Amino acid sequence: MDTSKPERAPTLRQRIFEILEHGRRRDFASRIVDGFLVVLVVSNVAVVIAQSVPEVAAEYGASLHAFDRLCVIVFAIEYIARIWVAPEHPMMRGKGPLMARLRFAATPLMVIDALALVPWVLEVLFPHSALMPLTRLVRLLKLARYSPAIATIGRVIVSERRALMACVIILSGVLLAAAAVMLAIEGRAQPERLGDMPKTMWWAAAMLAKIGGGETEPVTALGRIVAAITVMLGIFCFALPVAIIGRGFYEEIRRRDFVITFAMVARVPLFSKLDAAAIADLVSMLRARTVTPGTTLMRQGDRGDAMYFIASGSVEVSTDTLTVHLSEGDFFGEMALLSKEPRTATVTAESSTDLLVLEVDDFLRLLDRLPAFKEHIQQVARARRQGTVRGS
Ligand code: CMP
Repeated sequence: MDTSKPERAPTLRQRIFEILEHGRRRDFASRIVDGFLVVLVVSNVAVVIAQSVPEVAAEYGASLHAFDRLCVIVFAIEYIARIWVAPEHPMMRGKGPLMARLRFAATPLMVIDALALVPWVLEVLFPHSALMPLTRLVRLLKLARYSPAIATIGRVIVSERRALMACVIILSGVLLAAAAVMLAIEGRAQPERLGDMPKTMWWAAAMLAKIGGGETEPVTALGRIVAAITVMLGIFCFALPVAIIGRGFYEEIRRRDFVITFAMVARVPLFSKLDAAAIADLVSMLRARTVTPGTTLMRQGDRGDAMYFIASGSVEVSTDTLTVHLSEGDFFGEMALLSKEPRTATVTAESSTDLLVLEVDDFLRLLDRLPAFKEHIQQVARARRQGTVRGS
């Protein structure tokens, strides 16, 4: 990275934001805090399970209870800290501190964090409620923050919501149609089992899900044919959403080796000044890619199809005449896209490197939308061509 860039020391709030809402790798403190919280959540859930066993509760009840209290205190501190640093979040840029914190508190992960504290409040209000273990197990959801795959499933469900809604409508339609047809055919023959819609709907649901229904066999030939068709339709109805989610999941994983966070994008100096809407736009355009040391990312003379931003790690740029090292926050691969000429250098990963990849179409779209981005990239490319600048 260009070492001449002035670096201001982060404020306490910025530093805590970096630790809690980390990007990826590198930050040791962030990894320690994450690891500690994950261990605490898992131990807390184990304690809830142990407390439900009477013998264990009788012998270790006091210690387990004390440990639970300790967990609640740590979770509460974590929650307050996350809310406090919310104004540092790139997505909250331009909003006042209060508004930023309120908006942040309404994000799904923060709602889960708040829910993790609810059992403690319930315990104070209703100490002997039978629902206590159930509410305390909600804390397991806190792990969603540390599992990119869970975030991916969430995104897949959101992005495929229309197709999934169509599946629900198809399933409901098939269920109602099978129930109505069965009522018409078998309603009179076995009124006690298939004599009204709720009864035939239950029968249809059991046949569709293949969870039985054998005890209510149709007695007419037509009824048996309808039952056979219903079972087959059931396979189709349940296979469809599984296929949709499976395909969406595969696409997401292929698109992103890791989840791109807003904090990660904001660490690239070029993007750090963008407003929240532009960053959100950008995150949807970027693809994440992790490469191992020694991977050749592009060769001099290749055709250019994307530019890259380094989220962490470093690369070596080499031409016949010079060798340059680029690191976190720098970008490369812009020159071929701007000039529509072949790559000017060969770029190889020096360490395990996380890259944010911007495909050429999105690159051109971004140039149109963000004049400041365009100007900066052009300036850097010009300087690189003249050999006067290295980093970004
Ligand atoms: P591009 O020509 O598309 O592919 C190779 C990339 O290496 C190039 O874009 C630049 O991003 C980068 N590069 C080329 N020359 C330099 C330089 N002098 N300093 C830093 N990066 C360079």
